[in-house]
Amino acid sequence: MARISGKDAVVSQEKAQGIPAVKDKVALVTGGAQGFGEGMVRELVSAGAYVYIADMNIDGATQLSETLNQEQGSTRTFALKVNVTDEESVEAMMDHVAKTTGGLDIFISNAGVLKAGSVKEMTLRDFQFVTDVDYTGFFICTKFASRLMAVQNKPTGEYFSDIIGISSKSGLEGSNKNGAYAGAKFGSIGLTQSFALELVSDNIKVNSICPGNFLDGPLWSDPDRGLFVQYLKAGKVPGAKTLGDVRKFYEDKVPMKRGCETKDVVKAIYYIVDQKYETGQAVPVTGGQVMLN
Ligand SMILES: NC(=O)c1ccc[n+]([C@@H]2O[C@H](COP(=O)([O-])OP(=O)(O)OC[C@H]3O[C@@H](n4cnc5c(N)ncnc54)[C@H](O)[C@@H]3O)[C@@H](O)[C@H]2O)c1
Repeated sequence: MARISGKDAVVSQEKAQGIPAVKDKVALVTGGAQGFGEGMVRELVSAGAYVYIADMNIDGATQLSETLNQEQGSTRTFALKVNVTDEESVEAMMDHVAKTTGGLDIFISNAGVLKAGSVKEMTLRDFQFVTDVDYTGFFICTKFASRLMAVQNKPTGEYFSDIIGISSKSGLEGSNKNGAYAGAKFGSIGLTQSFALELVSDNIKVNSICPGNFLDGPLWSDPDRGLFVQYLKAGKVPGAKTLGDVRKFYEDKVPMKRGCETKDVVKAIYYIVDQKYETGQAVPVTGGQVMLN
């Protein structure tokens, strides 16, 4: 048997014991079937949480849930079909949660879409598609998640829960030819601050996380439709001849010289949940690419 030593031993011990901030908590991740969401689901499960994988892509969510339950040897995850832009669908999802686990500790509003384009050319339809998912979806999800979470706090007045929006570094600074996305992500931080002010009386903390580019995720690395392929074909990166050149261009924009990874985002989740004296914040996780004023 291989011996585990040093840093690996600490990591494996932590995993066996779970991460105290989330161990045995019930979490829900929208858009949990792939990308950042999938990574969050995997990390949260290995940290000891029970996780709803809520996605429009129910096949992907179900497959992931089955795999993780098998790996864990028990039912740690549940797949749920949801469209975050549809009130009835989100309400039904939260009803299902209430009936199944009786409550929810951590709601992660992660489902998001991106359609880039010039303001001179973008269709209203595309603009509204992005706004519906990335901005309005956060409102709809918070509406129904907060109702359930508020009930949990009623008996003692001491039960903290968390709503976490996955915004973006493009929620902190503008993004060229990507206004629909940046506008929605900026807007979601306005919602975060406003909902935080209201929901503090229910002990519901509302915060956002602003990740940098997830260069290893499907959005960037998909071999057919990923942004590396699109940007190479469109000649968006001056002088780039290969996918590697495009990737390096984006890595070089980051002071820490790499893309954002799920493990970086999950550390921010642990901090937010563990910290009982903060709400309404937008936490950057960008390797220094975007700094707060
Ligand atoms: N990829 C990046 O570089 C990056 C950087 C910063 C922030 N983000 C944000 O992180 C989040 C996840 O991004 P990703 O790159 O992992 O995305 P992704 O496209 O890989 O996955 C998104 C998931 O959301 C689901 N989804 C889409 N619309 C939905 C809807 N209406 N209802 C329910 N589910 C829906 C999809 O089925 C998919 O499983 C998004 O909010 C995104 O804006 C991404």
